Amino acid sequence: MSLIFKRSSVRRFTDEKVSDEKIESLLKAAMQAPSACNQQAWEFIVVSRPEDKLAISQMHDYAKPAEKASHLIVTIGNLSEARIHRMIEQDLGACNENILLQATHEGLGAVWLGFHPIEDRTLRLKEYLNIPDHCIPFSVICVGYPAHESEVKLRYDESKVHLDRY
Ligand SMILES: Cc1cc2nc3c(=O)[nH]c(=O)nc-3n(C[C@H](O)[C@H](O)[C@H](O)COP(=O)(O)O)c2cc1C
Repeated sequence: MSLIFKRSSVRRFTDEKVSDEKIESLLKAAMQAPSACNQQAWEFIVVSRPEDKLAISQMHDYAKPAEKASHLIVTIGNLSEARIHRMIEQDLGACNENILLQATHEGLGAVWLGFHPIEDRTLRLKEYLNIPDHCIPFSVICVGYPAHESEVKLRYDESKVHLDRY
């Protein structure tokens, strides 16, 4: 089975630290994503200090996994680098999925925490991490070694597929 069918969100992590090499491999995967006009208007903040992970875990009700992750990768869209601003969310979505798949490949667990476009969440992240106004804080990906086995449920649903017309 391809990585796509092995990946699932991991929200509990062991205390083992992820190596810099593995984090770099996730960032390489992120930057390998497709983007509109190949604009690659993305940037990343790698967060590993416990006090920062704790602060981010408290930024919204579903951000708790951030506290115990080894690293957080904050994905950011840089509007001043983007030629097609309206496509930046799609670029970042592809980029996030690449990180999740590479984490699976590396034997790591990861979960995507949603921030953009929920304004109170993005404002907190922006202020805390000094992200400038021309940048969109898109998401936070928690990365670490899984503290639990994951069971992947296949979701293929033929009724969602239309042939030739809706
Ligand atoms: C845009 C987006 C936002 C998400 N936000 C959160 C979040 O804030 N907290 C969380 O624990 N999981 C979050 N998730 C993970 C989803 O809950 C998860 O992908 C979904 O339940 C399917 O489970 P799976 O990833 O194990 O296949 C988010 C996923 C996406 C794509």
